[in-house]
This record gives sequence, structure tokens and C-alpha cells, in this order.
Amino acid sequence: MAMDPKKDYQGLSDECLKVMSEVEAFCEKEVKQTAIDADANPEVQDKKMMEVIAKACELGYNAFDVPKEHGGPGFTKLESVALLEKMSYYDAGFGITISANGLAAGPVLIGGNDAQKARIYEIIAHGGIGSFCLTEPAAGCDASAGQSVAYKDGDEYVINGGKCFITNGPLASYYVVFAMTDKSKGAGKGYSAFFIDKKIDEVPGMSIGRIENKMGIRNSQVSEVLFDNVRVPASALIGSEGQGFKLAMMTLDVARITCGITAIGICQRALDEATEYCKQRVQFGAPLSTNEVIQFKLADMAMKLQAGRQLCIHATDLYMQHVPFSTEAAMAKCVASDASAYISSEAVQIFGGYGFMRNYPVEKLMRDSKIFQIFEGTNEIQRMVIGRNIVK
Ligand code: CAA
Repeated sequence: MAMDPKKDYQGLSDECLKVMSEVEAFCEKEVKQTAIDADANPEVQDKKMMEVIAKACELGYNAFDVPKEHGGPGFTKLESVALLEKMSYYDAGFGITISANGLAAGPVLIGGNDAQKARIYEIIAHGGIGSFCLTEPAAGCDASAGQSVAYKDGDEYVINGGKCFITNGPLASYYVVFAMTDKSKGAGKGYSAFFIDKKIDEVPGMSIGRIENKMGIRNSQVSEVLFDNVRVPASALIGSEGQGFKLAMMTLDVARITCGITAIGICQRALDEATEYCKQRVQFGAPLSTNEVIQFKLADMAMKLQAGRQLCIHATDLYMQHVPFSTEAAMAKCVASDASAYISSEAVQIFGGYGFMRNYPVEKLMRDSKIFQIFEGTNEIQRMVIGRNIVK
């Protein structure tokens, strides 16, 4: 039961459906095999996969929701979500890399001034992808525990500190960085956000630390990003001093939807691979697909997939209608990522011993799925957000 864009996502424009077919053709040709090779061999990742990512950015796959007046196609959030599911179907690491603008540009689009917004759209419309620098060694789930600091010096800010687990750290065209400008006020009012509109090698004092060797989504580059007396103009401040934490939280609300839909891409791929396999695989004299035990597994997988997808769509609808959606975004991320962990594991189960082998497609999906229960707020944090909002 493949994704049906007209049925599963109601209201996509003809232009979006056309681009979706192009994305599909591109991913079949360029992403599908390269992603498997790159997952197995990081040296290939550095070369071939990076070329594919660059090509996708040239085609504008990083810029679906950039408005027309800023040089993008101006797709709605729902349309960009649907397109992201399609890209993630082929490789979740590719989807995360390409879609990171949603997370990285968020603070600027929510709290930035017109000049900052125009600049970020300019970078993205020219193929740039961003990096959201929030997490630190001591500040994972507890985003308020960050130790990075920034102080004002004349008409500049000076940033010091270190970020870890930063998606697109080594390859971003711009960075949004959170640092404490007033420790006495605590994170809620002491954090500030800065928009650094340059590549890392153009910013003195900014550097990449360790590049992580990950269990899954190995085609998404994740690294430390370090700040040693990094000077940025005062105009890099997003909003005003002390707004950083709220900007981060509001951005994460949106990003949790896109995180969820990327996990749904994995779910759909795992269901399709398992369905195809069980039609071919004969045991006890008949294809596995005729066995009710297997059919029930496929049914459970399909139900969880659709529940996760529809929650993502529902949260997107609320966002588009400017209705509070924080609770629903947390639900969507949590249900979709739990679904991808379950469905990819069941796909391995249906493949049996072959599923455990690296030359079959489903073990990668199982590895890729795990991080979705962890990043952009662990699923325990999502439950905390949902629970707090219920009792509020
Ligand atoms: N929107 C607006 N404001 C919000 C908000 C939201 N969604 N959530 C909290 N706030 C505000 C609160 O109203 C409060 O404001 P006041 O001080 O004015 O009352 C302030 O922020 C502090 O809020 P809390 O007291 O709720 O803060 P907390 O310290 O208890 O933490 C938390 C809340 C939800 C647990 C938060 O720390 C959190 O989300 N943690 C998870 C961090 C996370 O998701 N990290 C992911 C990093 S990015 C990543 O993983 C992506 C990647 O690489 C691909």
C-alpha cells in the first residue's frame, strides 16, 4: 500500500504533485543506491552522497517552502511535508540533511527582522542548507542547561562555547546559534539566538570538532561545532536578548512535525519492502503473503504508519491555520517515530534471517529509525510536553 499523495494528503496542488514525480524520479536514479553504498562506506558518503545532496539543492529540494517573492516555489507547509516524506522514503539521512532548513531557519523566520529573513531566504534559494546549534554536552533533553556564552563588545557579540550532535555542522551555509547572554536570568530569559550567515570556514574562531560515526542515518553529517571568541555583528542577534529559549522551543514545535514525517518515510519504505518480499518468499509451499500471521503484521504496520502520518498532517494543518499546535506536533513526532521503530523492526522480522543481513534493504531502515525516537526532543520529552499541556 504505497503512499497515495492525493488520498493521504488532501489538497496538494497540481504543481506540487508534478514536483513530487520529479523528486521520485531523481531519488530513484540518484539517491536510492548511493544512499545504500554511502551508508556502508563513509568514504563514498563524503564524495558521491555529498554530490547527490548538492544536486538536490541545485534543483531546489532544500527550498520548497521559500516564498515566490524570495525566489522559491512557495509551496505550503503541507506540500513541503509531503515532499519531505517522499525524499525520506529513499533515505532518511538524505531527507534530514535537505530539510534541515526547516529547523535552522526557524528562529529567523519566527523572530528575525526583515533583513535577516530576506538574507536567509536568499541563502536557501541559492541551494544553502542550515545548521541549528542548540544541543551541548550538558544540555540535551534539558535544553536550558547550555554553557555557551555571548557578550556584547561594541557593535559585535563574542561567542564562546561548544555544541554537539549538530546536524549539517560540516556542510551548512549558515548557522543559528544559541548562547547565554545573561546567566543571572536563567535560560528562559538569558538565552539569545544568533544568525551567522556564512559557511564555517569563513568565520574566524568557528570550527568543526568531532564528526560523529553513527548507527543510522549515516548520510546525515553530524558534528561538534566549536566557538572560540567568534565575533559576529550585533545585527546577527535574532529578536532581542533573552528571546533565544522561546525561539528554540517555537522552532522545535514546527521541526517536530518534519521530524515525524521523515520517520513516516522510513515506515512507508519498510512496509513496501516487506510487502514485496512476502509476495515473493515461498515457505510451506505458499508465498508468505498468503499467511494470515504475516497479513496481520502488515495490517498493524499499515495502521501505525497511517496514524503517524495523519497526526503529522493534522499538526501541519493547525500550524497553517495559526492555531496552537505544540501538543499535536509532539504527538505527531512521538507516534510517527515509535511507528518507524516498530514497522522497521517488523519488516526485518518478515524478511527473517535475510532481514538481518546487510545486503537486504530493511536492516538499514531499522538502524535509521532509532534516532527519530531520540532527536528533536526524545519521546520522553514529547510526553512531557503533551502531559504538561494537558494539565495546564
Ligand atoms: N513555545 C513558546 N514558548 C515556550 C515553549 C513553546 N513550545 N515551550 C516552553 N516555552 C517557554 C515557557 O512558556 C517558559 O516561558 P516563561 O519563562 O516566560 O514562563 C520558558 O519557555 C521556559 O519553559 P519551561 O519552563 O517549560 O522550560 P523547561 O526548562 O522545563 O524545558 C522542555 C522545556 C520542553 C523540556 C525543553 O527543554 C525541551 O524541549 N527539551 C528538548 C530539547 C530538544 O528538543 N532538543 C533537540 C535539539 S535539535 C535536534 O535534535 C535536531 C537535529 O539535530 C536534527
